[in-house]
Amino acid sequence: MTTALQTDPECDGVAAVGTLLDRRVMPQPVVRAAYADPPYLGCGKSHYGHLHDEAADYDDPETHRRLIQRLCDEFDCWALSLHEPSLRVLLPMCPPDVRVAPWIKPFASWKGKGLPHAWEPVILMNKTGRKHRTRDWVSAMPPAFSGGAEPMLGVPGQKPRAFSHWLFDALTLETHDEFCDVFPGSGAVGDAWQRWKNRAAPEQFELLGHNAI
Ligand SMILES: C[S@@+](CC[C@H](N)C(=O)[O-])C[C@H]1O[C@@H](n2cnc3c(N)ncnc32)[C@H](O)[C@@H]1O
Repeated sequence: MTTALQTDPECDGVAAVGTLLDRRVMPQPVVRAAYADPPYLGCGKSHYGHLHDEAADYDDPETHRRLIQRLCDEFDCWALSLHEPSLRVLLPMCPPDVRVAPWIKPFASWKGKGLPHAWEPVILMNKTGRKHRTRDWVSAMPPAFSGGAEPMLGVPGQKPRAFSHWLFDALTLETHDEFCDVFPGSGAVGDAWQRWKNRAAPEQFELLGHNAI
């Protein structure tokens, strides 16, 4: 983690509030976080071959192993989406202290005779030491079944905004953190990150102001 100074830009350079500003300037650790939503194991060529030349690489478990290693090496906390059939393959590639959280889909496709897949695992790794503030599961309607509430952006596997907002909490993120959406696809998760930051920021300024008085 690196350290950044957080200041209230409204007050910066105003001599009359210098003392207050001094008290407001607090070092905040900046966390490097990542969300990886690759083609699910075995779905690379079939689901994403038309969108990416190297999508078939993700039909090989070793590509996922390299991705997990990179996440461990480069980030303070990370999350990895996968489908339930690949959990037995990919979970053993992760450090022993990861958590597995379910994304519950209240409505899912019931094609075929098998037990429907109405949830997806999310593997969570968090080395930040920050206090947790949400539960270890999320229920969120996939955009395809949202009745138009969330537009479909043309990329299979687009994540719903409610899922992303839970993810940011589950990773214990703060608005000043660095967030890397490794497989942006439709851009829905990056868009949710901007919205989440805008929503969360005023609350923080209020708290800072309260502390300063
Ligand atoms: C599951 S989708 C990501 C969905 C995204 N989270 C969203 O909400 O829209 C996986 C994405 O990875 C891209 N992709 C496929 N193969 C890739 C590769 N070898 N390297 C990088 N990206 C790849 C696909 O084109 C697709 O956009």
